[in-house]
Amino acid sequence: MDPKRRRLLDVAFLAAVAAVVGVLVAAPSARGPRLPADADHRVFPARPRAEAEAACPACHSERGPAPLAAGHPPKPQCLHCHEAARPKR
Ligand code: HEC
Ligand code: HEC
Repeated sequence: MDPKRRRLLDVAFLAAVAAVVGVLVAAPSARGPRLPADADHRVFPARPRAEAEAACPACHSERGPAPLAAGHPPKPQCLHCHEAARPKR
């Protein structure tokens, strides 16, 4: 291949890599409050994540005792944004 063309492809490739890295770094940083360390939530960190998340809407939905605020961020995958409470030392 013509070296000039080769160089152009290299530059394009590096630009593409930089774009992907940029998107990943800029990705969701909206972290919500941690899970409370109470009886309602203590059970979750030990469970597989998908299973734990399936249980949240029982309480955190319009019909539950602790509905989410109207302006709550997009909801799937609760535990992506809400970490478990820090373990007590
Ligand atoms: C048995 C009912 C119940 C279940 C199940 C439940 N929650 Fe809650 N949650 C509550 C109640 C009630 C509150 C508000 C009182 C409190 O802070 O404990 C609360 C509070 C929270 C808070 C704290 C909000 C704040 O303002 O600090 C977060 C975060 C939360 N829940 C996330 C979750 C997630 C994620 C799940 C699923 C893994 C979940 N909850 C499952 C009842 C529940
Ligand atoms: C994209 C990130 C994200 C996801 C996914 C997410 N949350 Fe949140 N959550 C937040 C942020 C940020 C706040 C704080 C909002 C505020 O202060 O206005 C919050 C606040 C909360 C609160 C406090 C009450 C309220 O509505 O402000 C509860 C309870 C809660 N989230 C539960 C959940 C549950 C249950 C799920 C899954 C069904 C979930 N969250 C998914 C980011 C997220």
